[in-house]
Amino acid sequence: MLEKLICQENRSLIEVLKVININTFGTAFIVDSSNKLKGIITDGDVRRILLKGVGLEATIGDHVNTDFVFSYDDEDLNTVLSKTSEKIQIIPIVNSNFELVNFARYNRKMHLPVAAPNLKGNEFNYLVDAFLSTWISSSGEYINRFENDFSNYCGTKYGVAVSNGTVAIHLALETLGIGKGDEVIVPDFTFAATINAVLHTGATPVIVDIEKDSWCISPSEIRNAITPNTKAIIPVHIYGQPCDMDAIMDIAKEHSLFVVEDCAEAHGAKYKGKKVGGFGDISCFSFFANKVITTGEGGMCLTKSDQLDDKMRVLRDHGMSKTKRYWHEHVGYNYRMTNLQAAIGVAQIERIDEIITHKKEIEDSYRNYLKDISYVHVQTRDIKDTERITWLVCLTIDKGDRDATLLKLKEKGVDARPFFYPLSEMEIYKKYVVSNANSVMLSKIGMNLPSIDVLNEKTSELIREVFLNELN
Ligand SMILES: Cc1ncc(COP(=O)(O)O)c(C=O)c1O
Repeated sequence: MLEKLICQENRSLIEVLKVININTFGTAFIVDSSNKLKGIITDGDVRRILLKGVGLEATIGDHVNTDFVFSYDDEDLNTVLSKTSEKIQIIPIVNSNFELVNFARYNRKMHLPVAAPNLKGNEFNYLVDAFLSTWISSSGEYINRFENDFSNYCGTKYGVAVSNGTVAIHLALETLGIGKGDEVIVPDFTFAATINAVLHTGATPVIVDIEKDSWCISPSEIRNAITPNTKAIIPVHIYGQPCDMDAIMDIAKEHSLFVVEDCAEAHGAKYKGKKVGGFGDISCFSFFANKVITTGEGGMCLTKSDQLDDKMRVLRDHGMSKTKRYWHEHVGYNYRMTNLQAAIGVAQIERIDEIITHKKEIEDSYRNYLKDISYVHVQTRDIKDTERITWLVCLTIDKGDRDATLLKLKEKGVDARPFFYPLSEMEIYKKYVVSNANSVMLSKIGMNLPSIDVLNEKTSELIREVFLNELN
């Protein structure tokens, strides 16, 4: 790990930022060519240097902080650790020649976040490239690249990048002409963005229940909820699990309904070997920081249709004519993504399969660590015709007090979360409910566990212990 903290004194500020970005400690140790420690620099120091007007290409040796806390390698461990604190989280250790030989870290209280972005590829390089190009708004080469790369990855023709996943759904519905007097069928068990986007069009949402096993919208409940006013269905591929798309597409065809896939939580998941996002008229993705891939905030609409792609681009950009500037043909929106966000997205796509595989490994290690606890069930991968991806690791518990267990985990520094509440339990959505029994049941017994790198024997043992003690 020590080598990940080192930066040579003749390197530039931008290079030291790369070192800090990769090591994720917020600090770099600056050494000369014979490994003598010249100083320390933190991300905060770099920010302050830049604010003074120093350029990113400046040599780090000229700006390094030479007044810093360190230890000698012959000091005993307690003395070394006593020099660290909440404020000084990492210190270098040198030998009598002042050569860097080791480092010590403050023993922080453990905190396992439920999710964290994986930005260890070209994200920083492309972001800086976009920044230095000065194309920091919504024009720029990274936007086109991101739209092409992501739509190719999902196997669809067009991608329209937008500012987040919620507006992606709203833009899709508006583009399909859905509004007042129309009904749109949504699942009870989803994040509220799905239904909010419907309400913002002026249409009426119709909430139906999910299937017990897949946790996705139930095709038979969709059938029961169709009226002459139904215009669209929004299947949500919840927690990485694809919906029963054949059944849903059949119903849509039979009743001439639009299908808008909500793929916010399921990048790369497959139904009958085909990636989600390629079934509906339009499909919508989120790139919020906890999603499979991220652009900070961000979203995308995918479609195979030339006309829908065209209309989405116009509505995304104030409804302005594509051929006549400042001439508005529709009452549009500013739903554009920035080139800076897209730069991060391009780097994320380069590693999306690696990220998905890694998350699956994390989920599999939970499955392994928890396999002897009969009342804890990791989300199944056995739903027919589907290849689920892991977004957040999901468990259901059929014994004991789920909420007390969550509190206990929190006390121990584990940021576990309860499943979404069903929409039907919230006052503002109650009046739209047709069916909800499975959603209500699932929401009470489910939880998400940290789906990040720091899962190891120690942390999983801690989680296992909480389950064994609290749920028995
Ligand atoms: C199912 C679902 N739909 C839509 C969204 C909205 O995405 P965003 O947060 O990017 O607006 C989310 C995000 O959390 C989601 O989980």
